[in-house]
Amino acid sequence: MTAAIEAEGMVKMFGDQVALDDLSFTVEEGTVLGVLGPNGAGKTTAVKAVTGLYPLDGGQARIFGHDVRREAPTVKQMTGFAGQYAAVDADLTTAENLVLVGRLYGLTKRSAQARTDELIDSFDMASYARKPVAQHSGGMRRRVDLACALVGSPRVLVLDEPTTGLDPKSRAGLWTMIQRLVREGTTLLLTTQYLEEADVLADRILVIDDGRQIADGTAGQLKKTLGGDRVVIELADPDRDAETAVRAVQPLVAAEGTAERAPDGSHVVIHVPDASRKLAAYVEALSRAEVTIAAVSVQEPTLDDVFFALTGSGTTSSAAADETAEAVA
Ligand SMILES: Nc1ncnc2c1ncn2[C@@H]1O[C@H](COP(=O)(O)OP(=O)(O)OP(=O)(O)O)[C@@H](O)[C@H]1O
Ligand SMILES: [Mg+2]
Repeated sequence: MTAAIEAEGMVKMFGDQVALDDLSFTVEEGTVLGVLGPNGAGKTTAVKAVTGLYPLDGGQARIFGHDVRREAPTVKQMTGFAGQYAAVDADLTTAENLVLVGRLYGLTKRSAQARTDELIDSFDMASYARKPVAQHSGGMRRRVDLACALVGSPRVLVLDEPTTGLDPKSRAGLWTMIQRLVREGTTLLLTTQYLEEADVLADRILVIDDGRQIADGTAGQLKKTLGGDRVVIELADPDRDAETAVRAVQPLVAAEGTAERAPDGSHVVIHVPDASRKLAAYVEALSRAEVTIAAVSVQEPTLDDVFFALTGSGTTSSAAADETAEAVA
């Protein structure tokens, strides 16, 4: 395996503020690393440091073995970056922005135009290619951002919160585009506040807080750190049956887990290391206790649960909170 991105002990200070505190990670070629963390965790600082946009106060970063500061021109040729805040010129059209970036990459007028046409076509942007970006919706702007990052056909793509603020349909559209690039061999480093996004796009997830790594692993491994499954038992008449239901399953759950009524009172939740072989016994105990069950489901913990377990707080993104609410409902 070839390391496409290597960050070693990165330290970054803003005055007295430590934005990166000995942060290290490696992204193998052709894989996707998702950096997940709440506001102010250091995500933007980390991705700007590994693309050479910020000087470091300690440690180093390399792209395909090239030091991002000492070999900046080489690194720039290989790396595409789309920042958290749109960097495109709002007075120019989609096409003009792309041509401009192409010229900055040193393409001739003709090749910049050809690359622009190609990107407009593959990103399905023909309908707003000739309109000033100032008139674009948020979703259109993010597409233009992503397309600008791809003008130089980079082997490494770095995206800082690519879908923040987009509606679910636009977000899914961008995910599809990003997945296509990854299938074609692009190495991707992305930051996100959306747990679902990291889950969908990333091979590995790095959770950071206060500039430090607090967890690293696949979505599955992170979920396992919480240990086990969550069995959700929906009751036809929760007010009548919830207490009885908890008492009925308690002996089966015993010391290995917990059974309790959900805070909103609508269902009973059982946490156990492995629910697969216990389900029938729970249902049998509940029916013996004459509890009327509306539905039973086994859910893996969500990444939001993992985040909560690791940091003691949820994420600040309301979308992430909504997703959790849905998963629990
Ligand atoms: N240019 C700057 N000057 C001073 N402090 C900064 C600067 N940029 C970032 N910081 C500080 O560094 C820390 C990390 O900020 P950073 O922007 O990397 O967080 P983030 O994880 O990207 O947050 P968000 O989710 O809000 O984008 C914060 O405490 C922030 O206030
Ligand atoms: Mg940021």
